[in-house]
Amino acid sequence: MGPVCPKDSRCTLRYTAQVGGVLLLTLAALASCGGVSEGVSGSMGGASGAGGGVDGFGGEPIASPSLPWALTEFPGLPDIATEVPASRVALGNLLFFDPVLSIDGETACGTCHSEFWGMSDGIPVGVGHGAGPAAGPGRNGPNVSRRNSLALFNLAFRETLLWDGRSGSLEDQAILPLLSEVELNLDPDTAIERLTAIPEYVDLFAAAFPEDPRVTVDNLAAAIAAFERTFVSDRSIYDAYVRGHLGAFDDELVEGMFLFAQMGCSDCHAPPLFESEVFADRNVPDVDGVEDEGLAEATGLPEDIGKFRTPSLRNAIVTEPYFHNGAVESLSDAVEHELERSGMPFTDDEVRLIERFISKGLRDESRASSRPLSVPSGLQVPLDGQQFPFL
Ligand code: HEC
Ligand code: HEC
Repeated sequence: MGPVCPKDSRCTLRYTAQVGGVLLLTLAALASCGGVSEGVSGSMGGASGAGGGVDGFGGEPIASPSLPWALTEFPGLPDIATEVPASRVALGNLLFFDPVLSIDGETACGTCHSEFWGMSDGIPVGVGHGAGPAAGPGRNGPNVSRRNSLALFNLAFRETLLWDGRSGSLEDQAILPLLSEVELNLDPDTAIERLTAIPEYVDLFAAAFPEDPRVTVDNLAAAIAAFERTFVSDRSIYDAYVRGHLGAFDDELVEGMFLFAQMGCSDCHAPPLFESEVFADRNVPDVDGVEDEGLAEATGLPEDIGKFRTPSLRNAIVTEPYFHNGAVESLSDAVEHELERSGMPFTDDEVRLIERFISKGLRDESRASSRPLSVPSGLQVPLDGQQFPFL
């Protein structure tokens, strides 16, 4: 799969920067990007949205947004995400935070995928079992992943998972952290034995899977996957803006969005999800002693060495540090790195505007997971954010 705008029919636009404080945005040849919806190409209203007499954020949409790309509706959830019993999602929620799935009884999925860090963990690379129950910045231990923990938003729409795309479904992926020696390191059969010994889990599995009411590896994976599909992020102010609430975006956000398109960012970080199945080598700084061939490890092809899947920029502001190895600390530095990679000249102010579009415009963690206070195993739910015992 290629980017939303294929190279041969790339969305082209001409952008005129601020002149005497008045923002002029000129679009040209928008129509080349697979057909532009009615009302998108004609409107220049976005630039004056904040003060031009349109509604405020939350009012009735009354105007068409000014966009540098074809308006693409946010995808609808697939049936597998909507036709699932609530009891299965609730079971997945408990399993996701229950350290019963780790060899040390202290580490859970939620250790590295926490609602406090945009469903990531706020540290350069994942730190697995043997590091205690406290998660987030400062977590340190003997079992360290090579890679930055991915944020888990909008997984329901994904075709490939992981930085190298080696997993194709959430059900398959859910067992990989158990098999990983540096993450949970627990034989799945042992996990099933442990769960079967807890009467509450036996009852919860039976209720969640009426057609096969047993504690099995397949049902464990299906419950976790059902829970993960609920982390939808489609309520950012970008989403409000494209739905016609023009007041959601001020002039600088519109400007940052146009720059984001002009600099080619949206070819790979394609709206509305701001990610894609494009695997690319972004020349990210190496981390000493860490070997990672990226996509080539999944395909075996030499030309795929160093390529990684384009991650989503939704909620990127809370998932620092950045890139597959967590080598870049701040979002601003990550944007600057990507601009350098684009090969086009840019100014510090353009870095700021693009960073602002991503950080303010694409943030919505409203449907991150919720962390249970206790889990059926009775083990300590991983501690994060304000739950540290010393606070
Ligand atoms: C030690 C930290 C750690 C733990 C524990 C952990 N993960 Fe992850 N997770 C990661 C890292 C690191 C990646 C990226 C790995 C890669 O791409 O090879 C990842 C990637 C993922 C992805 C892919 C997301 C995407 O955008 O492609 C999913 C889904 C996921 N984890 C779910 C889980 C589940 C479910 C559990 C518990 C069963 C879990 N993780 C436990 C660190 C962790
Ligand atoms: C050719 C495709 C492509 C283009 C064009 C592109 N990116 Fe990326 N971007 C990627 C890939 C792939 C990664 C992950 C690379 C890695 O970790 O090795 C990435 C990572 C990022 C990250 C870090 C995200 C995270 O969670 O770690 C940011 C921020 C980012 N890009 C912003 C931009 C901006 C801004 C532009 C435009 C100047 C841009 N990108 C252009 C493919 C692209």
